[in-house]
Amino acid sequence: MSQLVRIDRVDAVTVITLDNPPVNAFAFDLRVALRDALVAGMDDDGVEALVIAAAGRIFSAGADIREFDSGASSDSPSLPELITTIEDAPKPVVVALHGTAVGGACELALGCHGRVAEAGTKIGLPEVTLGIVPGAGGTQRLPRVIGVAAALDIIVSGKPITAERGRDLGLIDEVVGADGDRVEVAVALAHRLATDSTAPAKTRERDDLLAEAREQPGIFDDYRGKIARRARGFEAPFACIDCVEAAVTRPFAEGIAFERETFVRCRDSEQSKAQRYAFFAERQARKVRGVERDTPELTIARAAVLGCGTMGGGIAMCFANAGIPVIVTESDQGVLDRGMEAIRRNYASTVSKGRLSSDDAEARISLIEPSLDFDQLADVDIVIEAVFEDMALKKDIFGRLDAVCRADAVLATNTSSLDVNEIASVTSRPEQVVGTHFFSPANVMRLVEIVRGAATSPETLATTLALSRRLGKVGVVVGVCDSFAANRMLYPYSRQAQFLIEEGAFPEQIDRVLYDFGLPMGPFALSDLAGIDVGWRVRQHREPTRPKNLRYSAIADRLYEMGRYGQKTQKGWYRYEEGSRTPIPDPEVADLIVSTSEALGIERREISDEEILERCMYPLINEGARILDEGIAERASDLDLIWMHGFGFPRYRGGPMFYADSVGLKHVYETMKSFFEVHHDWLEPAPLLEHLAREGRTFGEWTAP
Ligand SMILES: NC(=O)c1ccc[n+]([C@@H]2O[C@H](COP(=O)([O-])OP(=O)(O)OC[C@H]3O[C@@H](n4cnc5c(N)ncnc54)[C@H](O)[C@@H]3O)[C@@H](O)[C@H]2O)c1
Repeated sequence: MSQLVRIDRVDAVTVITLDNPPVNAFAFDLRVALRDALVAGMDDDGVEALVIAAAGRIFSAGADIREFDSGASSDSPSLPELITTIEDAPKPVVVALHGTAVGGACELALGCHGRVAEAGTKIGLPEVTLGIVPGAGGTQRLPRVIGVAAALDIIVSGKPITAERGRDLGLIDEVVGADGDRVEVAVALAHRLATDSTAPAKTRERDDLLAEAREQPGIFDDYRGKIARRARGFEAPFACIDCVEAAVTRPFAEGIAFERETFVRCRDSEQSKAQRYAFFAERQARKVRGVERDTPELTIARAAVLGCGTMGGGIAMCFANAGIPVIVTESDQGVLDRGMEAIRRNYASTVSKGRLSSDDAEARISLIEPSLDFDQLADVDIVIEAVFEDMALKKDIFGRLDAVCRADAVLATNTSSLDVNEIASVTSRPEQVVGTHFFSPANVMRLVEIVRGAATSPETLATTLALSRRLGKVGVVVGVCDSFAANRMLYPYSRQAQFLIEEGAFPEQIDRVLYDFGLPMGPFALSDLAGIDVGWRVRQHREPTRPKNLRYSAIADRLYEMGRYGQKTQKGWYRYEEGSRTPIPDPEVADLIVSTSEALGIERREISDEEILERCMYPLINEGARILDEGIAERASDLDLIWMHGFGFPRYRGGPMFYADSVGLKHVYETMKSFFEVHHDWLEPAPLLEHLAREGRTFGEWTAP
């Protein structure tokens, strides 16, 4: 027998232990070994029942995703075949889960006749997050076991539940506490089922809970409506609902055939390819050049945040949410009080939406300690500075931090554009200085650009990467340059949007095209949210370096001069009704735009949606190519993560660089070239884009020299 499974006998029960490190993925070889072990157990007259358990940290992460591309996931025995073998077994088969049992592992458990799990085990069907539906009967069996409503929640959200919740829902027969032994409990259950005179119950033959759902035919359309906003643009969540609906409306054999068909269609879709790419991109980003796997990290037990403004307050909440005590300091008691008040309001709003209990909110707030005393920073492990964007102020603060903080503490800055090396230079420990660029709102957006200074050590990077994961963030390492990767790519995108309105478009048309593309909002709605005054300040800093022969769009400056700062003044590119964030096109702005075109002598023209998409998207991709060429980012997928987690770029398109690859770099290059010929500006195709396009290669294939 292969080493991928171990077989033991406990009295008359065969215990099959999966042992396919690191995550017991159900790759082909493991499936063969498990099938052989199952058949042997069933053929052995001395065996009354079987238990499937697993060695290692977790029970199993399910199917081997890499087999989706090779097609090996369908090789016999496929997971669906194995599960049918289990369900049809003449002897009871009980599964003993621990750690994590998701995807195919959860589906396998659903085919078993008894299910035991260690307390805290995470059980779920995350397939939807990869753009597919569960493909081994999950959508047909789960509603039979726990009912349609609960099954929809699990399958459509992809979020796992705990073993305890599983017991309440009827998914788990017994939860084993810390003092118990899951295999012993499973063996005892298997023995009890074997001594029962009836044949093992087949999940697929259960109908009681489906019958209940048949009484409420509107349940599926209601669910489609419920997720419409959240799942906008994604195909898989709706495909999941269709499959569960098929479980209710069709016989099992037809339902399972429908699930398979849907699975194959999703698996081969562009969306799923993009979402699988994003999944691997997140893992890839943890591998950073020069940071070995065994690089020592500093454990962050206590943190401090300097500045309790928009960003500082949000960052303090991130620590509190992760259970890490954090001190927040300000220069003035009144400002500090207001900052803490904003944090409390933020938590209160989460509580009022039912997303957090008030006890949990209080517990989190109690982890945030406001203080005016700089000396208190003496024993924290990391400080994140989030004061005004002013080099002289930041240098002064880093000098003081260097004097006060423990010698091994990490000193991080949340600057969005300043030179991290210059900030580090005033300390005696530049190797422990790093940028941690959070995105607004910091407690919500998952991106942290980790800015590696010239002296930043591997230990500091390893510490910051590990911290970002603990905070539930996606940390992406970038190098020092003006505005780093995310905002540097955003700039040409917003810039082209502004030229387009001078040439003939209106903000609402441009925003609609980009919203329909899948972004949470277009550049003008974004500008109103971030503040037209903020953009104005950025231009004051950037424009002096703009070569004089480049165009400049002054419309945003006019809005700034008119006091139209965006949502905060209820007027910006759009107008806003009291208490509403819905942008309403404003004739005053339209007049301003038309008169600006006239003053510039531009004859306004009809601009197609396609031109809008390409004029906005390709320049940001082009800037991404420059960033790669300069070594500011290590790989194209890092830039894709930055856009997905910093700006809500649709995951089903895989990020801008992946999108460019799927459009074809030759087309992107040629379109950029024609834009450059007509509009000049910063539209010259980047050398790397040209190079890859000529060679017929992709950003995904490119590796840094
Ligand atoms: N707002 C954003 O969207 C955003 C996003 C990413 C990064 N950033 C960066 O984060 C930093 C903070 O930005 P913000 O938007 O939170 O600004 P903010 O003005 O809302 O907050 C800055 C806070 O720092 C405090 N402060 C000033 N001097 C101080 C000192 N000596 N000691 C302690 N506190 C002091 C101020 O009182 C203020 O409350 C800036 O570097 C900014 O570029 C901002």
